[in-house]
Order: sequence, then structure tokens, then C-alpha cells
Amino acid sequence: MSLKKNIIALRQKKAIVEKGGGDKALEKQIAMGKMPARVRILALLDEGSFHEYDMFVEHEEQNFGMANKELPAEGVITGTGTINGAPVCIYAQDFTVMGGSLGLKHARKITKIMDHALKMKIPCIGINDSGGARIQEGIGALAGYGEIFFRNTMASGVIPQLSVILGPCAGGAVYSPALTDFVFVVENISKMFITGPNVIETVLGEKISQEDLGGARVHAEITGNAHFYATSEMECFKQIKTLISLIPHNNEVKAKSVAPKEPKFRKKIENIIPSDPKQPYDVRDVIYALTDESKFFEVQELWAANIVIGFGRMKGETVGFVANQPLYLAGVLDCDASDKAARFIRFCDAFNIPIITLEDMPGYLPGVDQEHAGVIRHGAKMLYAYSEATVPTITIILRKAYGGGYIAMNSRHLGADFVYAWPSAEIAVMGPEGAANIIFRKEIMEAEDEDAMRQQKVKEYVEKFANPFVAASKGYIDAVIEPAETRDLLLHSMEVSRLKEEHRPMKKHGIPPF
Ligand code: HXC
Repeated sequence: MSLKKNIIALRQKKAIVEKGGGDKALEKQIAMGKMPARVRILALLDEGSFHEYDMFVEHEEQNFGMANKELPAEGVITGTGTINGAPVCIYAQDFTVMGGSLGLKHARKITKIMDHALKMKIPCIGINDSGGARIQEGIGALAGYGEIFFRNTMASGVIPQLSVILGPCAGGAVYSPALTDFVFVVENISKMFITGPNVIETVLGEKISQEDLGGARVHAEITGNAHFYATSEMECFKQIKTLISLIPHNNEVKAKSVAPKEPKFRKKIENIIPSDPKQPYDVRDVIYALTDESKFFEVQELWAANIVIGFGRMKGETVGFVANQPLYLAGVLDCDASDKAARFIRFCDAFNIPIITLEDMPGYLPGVDQEHAGVIRHGAKMLYAYSEATVPTITIILRKAYGGGYIAMNSRHLGADFVYAWPSAEIAVMGPEGAANIIFRKEIMEAEDEDAMRQQKVKEYVEKFANPFVAASKGYIDAVIEPAETRDLLLHSMEVSRLKEEHRPMKKHGIPPF
């Protein structure tokens, strides 16, 4: 055959594969409000940048009617491309081909692109839309999942890994996303659970819908499995593009810097904190006052809202923010907030992103629920993550820094490089009311007017301890600063730490309180 004829034959072969599972399955996919797998990839990547691999890989299963079954692209499309010029590896499961079910060859296509991403040191994005292990293949499918999980773990902390849940992701399949750095979900489309509603009904006799069991909102708000929630696939792709622009290709380089910009005026920084220390405010207003163009890309916005995490830019450089949120539960630390912050700190540390901590919290959430939920174990994750971090870390104490919270929010004692306090800072073992009731209990009880005495003792305590000057006198904070100086000082601190090197004792790995 001439080359010309060969080219025509190739194109015809490709066109067949590109049709995926056929018109009927495609119609069903669209009727479910889902984009076809190939369309998803093209919508996410820069125009004309996608290069597909392994289009003609075939399964080898002989049982259960599989012997002569052809599976276009083996139910998963893999390849490379760019997102705003940044190279990425990508795979998208095609639900139109046997429900995107994962057999051994399907898995091997995924592991091949994961290996490629790790070798090329570029991010790997997985779009999940699958009925799980291909039932006909049995152990081959399970082996495939195991090989994926192993690679997720090897790549962890080396290249960013993103999981996009755009359909079912059930059974053990959920563990690949759970091992990756960021999980994206879309309203009405994403479904993630270990055991589906059918099994739950059989075993427990309880009826529940897929949505209520593991829909997008459940994972964005309740479980914390999802990091980004969108109302459409296109919105989700926009979030992915933003994230890719803010993080580096791998752990050996820094995120790409962009042209420096000034914050846009939102709220004057000195007017954000109310004069009454009991009044809440939105800590995001402080972040907006600090970042270029006042932009902040929040992570896990809907879960554990008492702590705010996310990325911004300062003079064009990516920084990670960890901030107590006085708007929710007064910004206390609890199990979920500690987990949320700890993981984010470790991501920033692994990927050379300086961490800015904004502190205003009255301590750990008290109560039997939290104690029994393991607040000791969960809270320890945060201490571990901050202590382990060697990227530049800067802490600003805005207002309350009480007790264990003072230590946990990246105090000097855990290794913060720079600690600054606003004049509104209250750094003490506990809140003035609680402290006065304990240490002056006798005087208060013996006083003729108990309330007046209590007020007087609270005032004494506030004057003595609930300010930044005791900590400043001991050198635990570097400077008491005016709010308006904060951005300049942060930029200066980042500049000073540009060449920072910090080494930890040699070890195989630590044993964090997972
Ligand atoms: C083989 C599968 C499949 C699977 C779906 N299909 N899941 N084929 N193995 N796991 C096929 C269907 O037979 C059907 O083929 C086509 O895909 C579309 O599926 P539908 O059921 O028609 O789609 P829908 O009604 O949208 O329902 C989607 C679904 C359902 C909820 C995902 O298909 C389902 O419950 N599938 C099984 C889920 C499951 O139990 N998976 C195994 C989990 S255990 P035809 O030819 O009719 O179009 C697991 C272990 C992993 O994953 C452990 C790793 C450690």
C-alpha cells in the first residue's frame, strides 16, 4: 500500500476509535449532562495542544463474552498537552466504553501516562468517569488499581496530581483521587463512594440516593475529600487552569512568577478588625488587602470554614495562606480544620511555595465530641506539618493567639522564620475571662461584689498579658507592626528568604500522626 493509502487507513482507524462507545452511549452521556471524554480533554487543554497516546491498545480478556469485544481506546484516553502553556499529562476515562470500567490494559494506559508525568516532572491530571473495576476481568482490574495507587504514592510530593471527578468513581477507585493533591467535583455529576446505594440497602436496609451518599456537595462540605466545587464542567476546567497557573511543574522548581500587581482597594486593612475583640470579621478581607489585585484562590472553601487556606500572589510570586476565620466558630481549631491546614502546609512545603499564616483564634474547640473524634491526633498533624516545613514561613498575629493555638499557628517555637504581631494581638495562655476566673478565683469569690471584682481582674489580666508586648519582650515575635505595614514587610521577608536553606535530620521518613 502506498503511504498515501496508509495515511487514509490510519485516519479511518483513528476516526473509529474517536467515536468511543458509539452514538447510543454518547447520547446517554450527553443526556446525563456530561461532556464526552475527548471533548473534556480538548476543553481543558490549550487549543491544538493535545497529543494522544496508546489509542490502539487492546484488552486481553477472554472470559465473559470479552474475547471478540473491541474497546475503543480501552475506555480511557491518555496523552500530553498544555494549559496556558504549562505542560501536563492527562487521562480521561470514557464512560461510553463499558462504563469507563477499569481492566488491566485500561489501568496500564493510566500508569504509563503517570510514569511519563513523573519522568518529565510535569503535573498529572486524571478525569474519572467510571463504573469501577471491570467485573469481567476480576483480579486483572484489581491489579490495575493497585499499580495506580502505588504510582500516586511515588509521585506524591514530586509532581502535582489533580483528580477530576466527572461521573461515578466508586469502590476502591476512589483511592486514587484520595491519594492525589487536589480533587475537583461538579454539582449533579460527581459521585464518589466506597459502597454504593445498592449495597447499603442490601446490607443495612437503608435507602439513600447516590447524590446524598457521595455527591459533589457531600465531598465539598462534609467529608473534605474535594478541594474545589463547581456548578458546571466548564467552571471546573477554569478552576483547574487557575490552579495550574499558581503551582509549579514539580518539586524542584518554583511556581512561575507573573507581572507584579498592587492589591485592588477592597477594605482598608486597619479597618478590618472590629474594635470589640469579641466581634467577628472575614479574614479573607485581610488576605485581599495583601495580595496582588486582591485575588485569592481558595481551597476547600466549603469545608472546615473555621480555617481558610488557598493561594494568592505577592509581587507576582505564588504564596500559600493559612488563616483562622473568626466568622466561623470564632476561628477555633478542630479536627477538620487541623487536617485541612496540615495537608495544605505539606503541599506548599513540597512545592516550594512560601506560607503566610494569619492568626486570630481562641484555641482548640472544647468538648466531648472533639475529644472523642481525636482532636489530639488531628491537631498534632498541624504541629507536625509546620515543624517539618522548610519553605519560608511568615506568621502575622492579628488578634487572638491563645494557648495551644498560639503554638500551632506556626509560632517561632515551631520554626517560623518571621513572626509579626499587630498592636491588636493578644498572646496568652488563655482568654482573659477564663484566665481571671481560674487564677483569681479566691479573690472573686470572697469579694462583696463578685462581678465587679471579676471585671477588675479580667482588666488586670488583659493589661498584663493580652497584648503583643510580653511576647515581644522575650523575642518570640520579631516586631509589633501597624496593619498598613504588613504587605511591605511580607514582601521584604520573602525577599530576604529567597535563598533560604534549612536542613532536617537525615531519615527514611518521619511518622506523622496520620
Ligand atoms: C463492567 C460495567 C461496569 C463494571 C458499568 N459497566 N460498570 N461493565 N464492569 N464495573 C457497563 C454496564 O454494564 C453498561 O454496559 C455500561 O457500562 C453503562 O452502565 P450503566 O449501568 O448502563 O450506566 P448507569 O445506569 O449510568 O450506571 C452507572 C453505574 C452502574 C452506577 C456506575 O453501571 C454500576 O453500578 N456499575 C457497577 C459499579 C460497581 O459495582 N463497580 C465495581 C466496584 S468494585 P452496556 O453494555 O449495558 O452498555 C471496585 C473494586 C476496586 O471497583 C477495588 C480497587 C482497590
